[in-house]
Amino acid sequence: MHKIVEPKIFYFGTPVVLISTLNEDNSVNLAPISSAWSLHQSFMLGISNRSQTVQNLLRERECVLNLPSVDLVHAVDRLALLTGRNPVPDYKVRQGYRYEPDKFGTAQLTQTPSDIVKPSCVKECPVQLEAIVKHVHDFGEDPSTLAAIEVKIVKSHINEQILMDGEENYIDPDKWNPLIMNFCEFYGIGAKVHPSRLAPVFAPPVRQ
Ligand SMILES: Cc1cc2nc3c(=O)[nH]c(=O)nc-3n(C[C@H](O)[C@H](O)[C@H](O)COP(=O)(O)O)c2cc1C
Repeated sequence: MHKIVEPKIFYFGTPVVLISTLNEDNSVNLAPISSAWSLHQSFMLGISNRSQTVQNLLRERECVLNLPSVDLVHAVDRLALLTGRNPVPDYKVRQGYRYEPDKFGTAQLTQTPSDIVKPSCVKECPVQLEAIVKHVHDFGEDPSTLAAIEVKIVKSHINEQILMDGEENYIDPDKWNPLIMNFCEFYGIGAKVHPSRLAPVFAPPVRQ
């Protein structure tokens, strides 16, 4: 039996992304988001345009998308209810947010230089994707406080521990254990449930 209900959110489970962006004073801001999906070489990010992250993206047009594995959940949770925006917007004060200029230090994460963009990568994240902003759209209600931001990946740093054996450019889904936000709670993923008929299309070419 299905019921007609009015859920407040539809967060059915997406990967957590730690997005690093450059502040006006050249320090690096770091914010967790989970409204993120990818197609080909691009990502679409859903972010409140009252965040420091969006201000930085509009000004600098670049970022790093750092994908944490499940073991980094404590670091990610330490970033919750923090903003790099000063003063903190009223609605966030009411939700219990506070201003934090040193997100890396607070999360106990380490900055490592990027190759192409200015904001640093998060050393502890197995996936670090340097990206540039392509398009910014209003999203949701009108007038909108949300932005859908399309970014293009320009350099990928992948920990060799999650690569397929003997392959340079393929991530092994059996080795990658993403941190998932599911209705505002943290989850991992379980084991593969069924072989996929699509997987061979994207598999490494058979070597002679
Ligand atoms: C796990 C997690 C996922 C989040 N996902 C999003 C999201 O997808 N979009 C968004 O706007 N805020 C999201 N937030 C809230 C932002 O992290 C929050 O607005 C933060 O203050 C942004 O930081 P900034 O103002 O320094 O950019 C999420 C928070 C957590 C802890």
